[in-house]
Amino acid sequence: MAPTPMILSAFFFNPQGDHRMSWRHPDAPGREIFDLSYYRRLAEAAEAACMDAIFVADHVAMWDSYESNIAHYANARLEPITMLAALAAVTRHIGLLVTASTSYSEPYNIARAFASLDHISGGRFGWNVVTSGMNEEAMNFGRDANIEHASRYERAEEFLAVTKALWDSVEDDAILLDRRSGFFADPRRVHRVDHVGQHFKVRGPLNVPRPPQGHPVIVQAGSSEDGKDLAAKHADLHFARIRTIEEGKRYRKEFDERLQRFGREPRDFKVLPGILPIVAQSRAEAQDRRDFLETLVPARVGIDLVSSWCGIDLSAYPIDDPLPPLPDISTYDGQRANLERLMGFAKERLTIREIARRISNAGTGPVMAGTPKDIADEMAAWHEAGAADGFNLMFPLLPGDWLSFAELVAPELQRRQLTRSEYASGTLRDRLGLRRPVNRFRSECSHASAKSSRSDEP
Ligand SMILES: Cc1cc2nc3c(=O)[nH]c(=O)nc-3n(C[C@H](O)[C@H](O)[C@H](O)COP(=O)(O)O)c2cc1C
Repeated sequence: MAPTPMILSAFFFNPQGDHRMSWRHPDAPGREIFDLSYYRRLAEAAEAACMDAIFVADHVAMWDSYESNIAHYANARLEPITMLAALAAVTRHIGLLVTASTSYSEPYNIARAFASLDHISGGRFGWNVVTSGMNEEAMNFGRDANIEHASRYERAEEFLAVTKALWDSVEDDAILLDRRSGFFADPRRVHRVDHVGQHFKVRGPLNVPRPPQGHPVIVQAGSSEDGKDLAAKHADLHFARIRTIEEGKRYRKEFDERLQRFGREPRDFKVLPGILPIVAQSRAEAQDRRDFLETLVPARVGIDLVSSWCGIDLSAYPIDDPLPPLPDISTYDGQRANLERLMGFAKERLTIREIARRISNAGTGPVMAGTPKDIADEMAAWHEAGAADGFNLMFPLLPGDWLSFAELVAPELQRRQLTRSEYASGTLRDRLGLRRPVNRFRSECSHASAKSSRSDEP
């Protein structure tokens, strides 16, 4: 086994796959996407293949600003924290990464939920920290439009600081349950956080003991400067949009410098580029599958998708023309990574129709299509070059692409000793080679005095 095994995270946003219109495919699931058994089958396949984690993305809104989506409602799905809590009960080893928004929740709620998830899963949870960039989301939480980009990230930064403090507020060995003395917990190891900031006022302590991992694994995928700073300061795993090995190497180098600015070490931060694996018997068959998926995107949905990426309603523009002038990125409040990608397409003079095709497939990550050997070769090349610590696997069509990867590509990677063939004991952090965070409230002094306090009467 290589010293640092390749990390595999099996991702989905749409339960039918990450191609936007995969739900129309004849092999797509139907109503079972609202049943636990569907997800259980996916989780069991990923666990049998010894993958590191399942990762579920989320928005707190129905995407319906544009006409076609009112007709399709294609992003209806289960609330993912609830769904992954249920999966924790039917899996034993695999990590469970789930999305929650810092813009539309409160630190105390999130700290409690994730501490509880970490306990019930035996230390297997991670939190994908998102700031939520859609107007539709803002409209469900008392606003008419998105929170401004910089404010979203300021709030996220404060949110994370408070949440981490809350996780530390009940020290690891604070719970005594000492029937004789009457101490449920050692009062010297339970702390208020007394936070008063720009966005939050939180007293604490948390009413859940410190999570088994200390802090659940923190995941961040922001790609603007603010997003990358948040990741460099707080995240353990970073999902990145990288298209080539060279870009991945540059990205890693740039992040190592950024980490240093925040006093962190590169080994505490893993970069996982998103890839779109399509496993087939041959490259020609893989290409046919891609082409077929493209036929499922009605022109109107494509236009709406491009519209949502740049905040301009493009329905009045000719579909076979290039994009109109795009908004200024430095003041754009939507997802800046999306706008930046469109700016690249605009430079290439692609038409709206061509762009729609490209971005329908999970937002333009590199497609790795072909035989299991082809896909393993490409993944190995990225990993060996230092362009990726592992991959976020964004399957175009579920359950088929996920199950084929687990059955055909995962064993090939194991055979080459690039990934693990069995789960080691320990938490998700342990398996990913991430250190357990030190508790900010912990001190030798409090440890010693806490011991002596145990025999006191309350
Ligand atoms: C793999 C991946 C998964 C993501 N999952 C979510 C998600 O579940 N919910 C969400 O609102 N944004 C999600 N995003 C968007 C990012 O959190 C971020 O907003 C986006 O990359 C734009 O960066 P910026 O916010 O720094 O401008 C995801 C991005 C990537 C690359």
